[in-house]
Amino acid sequence: MLSRRSFLWASGGVTALAALPTAAKRAVAAAPELVARANPVQLLPPGYQETSIWGYSGQAPGPEVRVMQGARILRRFVNQLPQASSVHWHGLRAENAMDGVSGLTQDAVPPGESFDYDLAAEDAGTFWYHSHNRSAEQVARGLYGPLIVDEPTPPDVDRDVTLMLDDWRVDPKTGQVEEDFGATHDLSHGGRLGNFISTNGEAAYQLPVRQNERLRLRIVNAANARLFTLGLQGLDGWLMAYDGMPVISPEPVPEALTLGPGQRVDLFVDVIAKEGEEALLGRIDQSKGYVQAAFPVSGSSSANRRPAPALLPPNRTPDMTDLAEAATLRLEMSGGAMGSMREAIWNGYSRKAGELMENGQFWAFNGLVGMTETPLARLSLGQVARMTVVNDTVFPHAMHLHGMHFRVLAQDGTPGPLRDTLLTLRGESHEIVFAADNPGRWAFHCHMLSHAASGMMTWIEVTT
Ligand code: C2O
Ligand code: CU
Repeated sequence: MLSRRSFLWASGGVTALAALPTAAKRAVAAAPELVARANPVQLLPPGYQETSIWGYSGQAPGPEVRVMQGARILRRFVNQLPQASSVHWHGLRAENAMDGVSGLTQDAVPPGESFDYDLAAEDAGTFWYHSHNRSAEQVARGLYGPLIVDEPTPPDVDRDVTLMLDDWRVDPKTGQVEEDFGATHDLSHGGRLGNFISTNGEAAYQLPVRQNERLRLRIVNAANARLFTLGLQGLDGWLMAYDGMPVISPEPVPEALTLGPGQRVDLFVDVIAKEGEEALLGRIDQSKGYVQAAFPVSGSSSANRRPAPALLPPNRTPDMTDLAEAATLRLEMSGGAMGSMREAIWNGYSRKAGELMENGQFWAFNGLVGMTETPLARLSLGQVARMTVVNDTVFPHAMHLHGMHFRVLAQDGTPGPLRDTLLTLRGESHEIVFAADNPGRWAFHCHMLSHAASGMMTWIEVTT
């Protein structure tokens, strides 16, 4: 049984959620301007106060940015926030100068100013955009949105639905986002977890469907730190893509599917629940089930289920087979609460753990805390790299490489699907392989944004 509770605090009032009217549809605009601003929205269910979020167009998620594969994404980012900001196009293998990483690929855009983004959408798939300046705060406040690149030949589905999952830390009394963005406990433990969970900015997301209808669900984990473990009920189908990149053969959707922060999946699912029933996307949290999104069924789209879907057309796939010549890299993650990090280098000097903590720094990659003058690795264009990623901490991390996708090698060396974010659990070690085929300075960091802010941030340079 799945409970309807989106709140993780005890509250008697939320059981009535099922009966709520559907919230007004969010604006889906292809506006050339992407305006970031503070705005009060009814994030929590009616009866609670409005929440002043920071969002693109004042909404969280922001407006859908959607283009055809091969087209360019053109947006004038207008910063009406009280802080400098920048926009990162997560997962797009695009031009480095447009990657939106403040301090690495551009300066953050000051309040009142703007920046013109102009980048190629080479890959079709499910991506997202979000702030990349002070992201532990700015993404938590709501600065993210869907970025969809359409295949030139649309796949055969009845409906294409993006679901952005998030958790918010709000004070239920005031309805406001808690402003403890640099809380030591979050930095040093599992990151900033929220107490209110949303799908597309709603507590009780609902989408009416028909029996046997085929949905493309594009699921994005936009949370700062939460792992979402998801399951289906009354829906059945195939996993078609990870992190925007189609799989080589569709896999049945696993019973439990975990997405780390920043990760995405595309599912093609058929509504097998019957008329009058409700299909569900469920979330499993500490072995309890909750409703993440509900799909009430009325009518049917056909008498039978359709045949299995055709593959999504592959995006450009770099050749990574020649591992003999590959550059060998290693990334050892250390630190955090209950970790063994005694000292590490920060801003050029070796410091004791105590001094690092006083400065809000808790994590290191290869003994180095945070951004460094020189990159973790300098690769020449076209070079293949294989990297061992060792999680020597007691927390999970979600390592995101900008600008290029990688494959995770299985124990026996078989390459897995192309991904841009690696979820690594405590004590795990993974090997990833990527082709350095995109020149520039690429951020490589933990997508648990409090971790990135407290040491887990580095970069890789691809030189021409
Ligand atoms: Cu989605 Cu560097 O981030
Ligand atoms: Cu982390």
